[in-house]
Amino acid sequence: MSTMTEARSNPLATIDWDYIEFYVGNAKQAAHYYMSAFGFDRVAYAGPETGVKDRVSYVLVQNKLRFVLTASLLPDDAIAQHVATHGDGVKDIAIAVEDVRAAWEMAVRGGAVSLLEPTVVEDEHGRLIKATIATYGDTVHTFVQRDGYRGIFAPGFVEDRRSIAGSHKPGLQFIDHCVGNVGWGEMDRWGDFYAAVFGFSQLVSFDDGDISTEYTALKSKVMTDPRHRVKFPINEPARGKKKSQIEEYLDFYRGSGVQHIAIRTDDIAATIDALAYNGMEFLDTPDSYYDMLEERVGTIEEAVDTLRKRRILVDRDDLGYMLQIFTKPLQDRPTVFFEIIQRKGSLSFGKGNFKALFVSIEKEQEKRGTL
Ligand code: FE2
Repeated sequence: MSTMTEARSNPLATIDWDYIEFYVGNAKQAAHYYMSAFGFDRVAYAGPETGVKDRVSYVLVQNKLRFVLTASLLPDDAIAQHVATHGDGVKDIAIAVEDVRAAWEMAVRGGAVSLLEPTVVEDEHGRLIKATIATYGDTVHTFVQRDGYRGIFAPGFVEDRRSIAGSHKPGLQFIDHCVGNVGWGEMDRWGDFYAAVFGFSQLVSFDDGDISTEYTALKSKVMTDPRHRVKFPINEPARGKKKSQIEEYLDFYRGSGVQHIAIRTDDIAATIDALAYNGMEFLDTPDSYYDMLEERVGTIEEAVDTLRKRRILVDRDDLGYMLQIFTKPLQDRPTVFFEIIQRKGSLSFGKGNFKALFVSIEKEQEKRGTL
């Protein structure tokens, strides 16, 4: 290996989120939901009108967040099959890199399955380079290199700006982390995958002693890039008295996939108020949680009543504290949901809240008769 190659030994050292693509049954209606409930603006579109014959895609943005919603126009292509198997869900966690070829070569050398070799796509706005590898389940990662591209999103898309005037803006900023649920005993394998393929290191891990209630349990391990921009917690189910919420996800999703996307805000109370105004529903938390809150996490800037009223959760580590809340599932199957998170110094993922969260999720599971 040459010195030059060694100097660039981790081409994934400076990655960031690029977009998250959902495969859905009806992209037009899903786009309206994410715009009206979550305050996204539509900026681009691809479909038959733009020369794409087999699918439609809407690109939605808010601050640094970018989501793509794609639906098939065919009865039996890969998109339609994905939706038939998994329901609406996350297909692609795309990440921005400085050099797609170097990133893809490192990934394949690390054992990743390549689904698309580095490919240049062009239009009058310039050149965009991409490559795709497989990860857990039917989920993929596309590497995107945008330094030669000045268009709104990508070749094949046209600028198409819409927003919903009556939707309150929740001030969602960027992705904090994106969690995968994998099958029994597969957590270590996928943690090793992100170490070998992305050069990620393990930030933290929890076992079922940390994350369990009387009935349900899980194991979790968080993999991160060196700058802590892109963080992938990986969950697997663990044995409890009854079915783990991770197992419920695997049953409904028909395999491994993205469980939740955590989105950062600078003011969680204002964000929750805007989302609630827009009709978004959140998981409830037992009232007793707030009676014991200051005892558990110490002094915080927010009034406990402000948090109690909105069911916001709090956790602390040695660096500070964080506030978080979870939405109900975003589609018919109880699979993908969002977390809204505000960090005040802490790097925590809410370990101290798992128990409180689990009690709350189990109440929802009980209603569905799957506990
Ligand atoms: Fe999370």
